[in-house]
Amino acid sequence: MKIAVIGTGYVGLVTGTCLAETGNDVICVDINEAKVKQMQAGEVPIYEPGLDLLFHRNIEQDRLTFTTNLADAVKDAQIIFMALPTPPGGDGAADLSYILGAAKDISKLITDYKVIVNKSTVPVGTADKVKAVFAENTSVEVDVVSNPEFLREGVAVDDFMKPDRVVLGTKSEKAKKLMTELYAPYVRQGNPILFMDERSSELTKYAANSFLATKITFMNEIANLCELVGADVDAVRRGIGSDDRIGKRFLFPGVGYGGSCFPKDVQALVKSSDDYAYDFQILKSVMEVNERQKTILVDKVLKYYKGDIKGKHFALWGLAFKPETDDIREAPALYIIDELVKNGATVTVFDPEAMTNVKNILGDKIKYAKNQYEALEGAEALLIATEWSVFRNPDFDKIENILKNKVVFDGRNLYDLQKMIDLGYYYNSIGRKL
Ligand code: UGA
Repeated sequence: MKIAVIGTGYVGLVTGTCLAETGNDVICVDINEAKVKQMQAGEVPIYEPGLDLLFHRNIEQDRLTFTTNLADAVKDAQIIFMALPTPPGGDGAADLSYILGAAKDISKLITDYKVIVNKSTVPVGTADKVKAVFAENTSVEVDVVSNPEFLREGVAVDDFMKPDRVVLGTKSEKAKKLMTELYAPYVRQGNPILFMDERSSELTKYAANSFLATKITFMNEIANLCELVGADVDAVRRGIGSDDRIGKRFLFPGVGYGGSCFPKDVQALVKSSDDYAYDFQILKSVMEVNERQKTILVDKVLKYYKGDIKGKHFALWGLAFKPETDDIREAPALYIIDELVKNGATVTVFDPEAMTNVKNILGDKIKYAKNQYEALEGAEALLIATEWSVFRNPDFDKIENILKNKVVFDGRNLYDLQKMIDLGYYYNSIGRKL
């Protein structure tokens, strides 16, 4: 099939590349000329494990091309994917100007039937707005399909190639047939393609992310309670996760959820609910608790140093909002750094992938180490904000030799409690005994 993908961010680029991988001809469009040049030269602009291989393979086979020219891209395409940003507007609602703007541009270029697929996370009713834009600007037949993406950064290629489900919001039989054909290679194992109306599909995406954010937040609260009552959150996690109705995944407490999706989507769903005069109380609490959780590690540090960390130096491992990404949007580490610095402390950081992104926004406010051990030099204590694999089994002798004191504040529960006690550390983690 001939496909156009508009927008080459995480979602667009992964979608375009993975659609090319099953033999489709995919042309990706972006207004950012420098980025398009970079991709045309064979360079992947983001860090996403496994994407490189597919990207190069499909470029070499001429199935994956890039352009800044929208007209070239949509001319022959049967299906046009929109994977455009929906940043929070001033009032917290998703800003639809990119999507509606692109719809208008496309509507002026097409001359035959197209399926317009929206991949971005958009408020309920957006498909109707997109349809209205087409109705206003062209008499050419189009079907607008809501097809939310459920990719996780870091495992996005796998998630696209083997999705748990594909959600398609459309009532058009013609569009259903084309989309079923397109997605068939990805659901061979029997995972469902779920057809529904556009509004249900749009809400499914917000409901999924908000539910997951709630699940994490619930565990963060259980963890905080564990510390007070002297229970161990790992045991409680296993105890409840073995119940299939609860499930084992997404029960890991930490320093709060971050990233470009959960915070934005929870906020947008609360805003949408408010617009319909519905008070979505549980999500309001989720937002509040998550704000608190982002600085829980610094609260622990402050308590340990009796409220005074002025002039003290700390090491911080992990900057990305989660492992296997260089993404630092809404990363808890940034809040931790901010709090430490506000309280008069200095920080040296290390992250396997996200250092450049942090340098670009924080500059010389903090120091950057070449590796995880260099970060420990002259530090009173080590703080951990992201569970990168490379931090899971470090050389504790080396840590002991470099770090000034055997003190670790672990926001991701990386180490065995007994081991840390045996090694003589003061080890403060989330929801576990000291
Ligand atoms: C999330 C969803 O998982 C995807 O399904 C969705 O497509 C995507 O948002 C999106 O809307 O685009 P992502 O933001 O890449 O994906 O990251 P997650 O792996 O879901 O993690 C989100 C946050 O939750 C991270 O800060 C992570 O550290 C935290 N988390 C996750 C926990 O604190 N505990 C857990 O047990 C799991």
